[in-house]
Amino acid sequence: MKFFVINGPNLNMLGVREPAVYGSTTYADLVALIQHTAEELQVEVEIVQSNHEGTLVDEIQRAYGKADGIVINPAAYTHTSVAILDALKAVALPAVEVHISNVKEREDFRQISYAGQACFDTVMGEGIEGYRTAMRILKKKLTQQS
Ligand code: DQA
Repeated sequence: MKFFVINGPNLNMLGVREPAVYGSTTYADLVALIQHTAEELQVEVEIVQSNHEGTLVDEIQRAYGKADGIVINPAAYTHTSVAILDALKAVALPAVEVHISNVKEREDFRQISYAGQACFDTVMGEGIEGYRTAMRILKKKLTQQS
C-alpha cells in the first residue's frame, strides 16, 4: 500500500512561520513524523511539498496509478483552488485533508475548503500529529475496501 502526502505553500517554513499558530516544529520534523508513521502502519510513502498550485496539481496527477491514497494539506490553496479540487476528483483516489491549525476557529476566508470537497475525511487542529491521524484514517479506509 502506498500513500502520497502532499503539502502546499509555506509548509516548508514550519518552525519559522507563525509559531503561535503552527507550533515550533520544523518541516523536517514533519517529514520525520510522516516517515515514522508510514513505518508503523507498514505503508510506503512519498512526501512532496510545493509553493506552486500547478505543481500540486501535477503531484496529485502523478499519484494516479502510483498511490492507493492521498493525505493532503493544500495550505492556503485549500481556500482558493478549484484546480486542486478538480485534480483530486480526476484521480478519484481516497483522500484525507489535514490542517495543522483549527481552521474552523480562524478567519472567515478560511471557512471554505475546495479540496475538502473531494476528501472523505478532514483532520484539523491537532498540530503536526494530525498527519499521523490522517494516515491512520486512510489506512483503515483502504484496508476496509480491500
Ligand atoms: C493550514 C491552514 C491554512 O488556512 C493556511 O493557509 C496554511 C496552513 C494548516 O495546516 O493549518 O497555510 O492548512
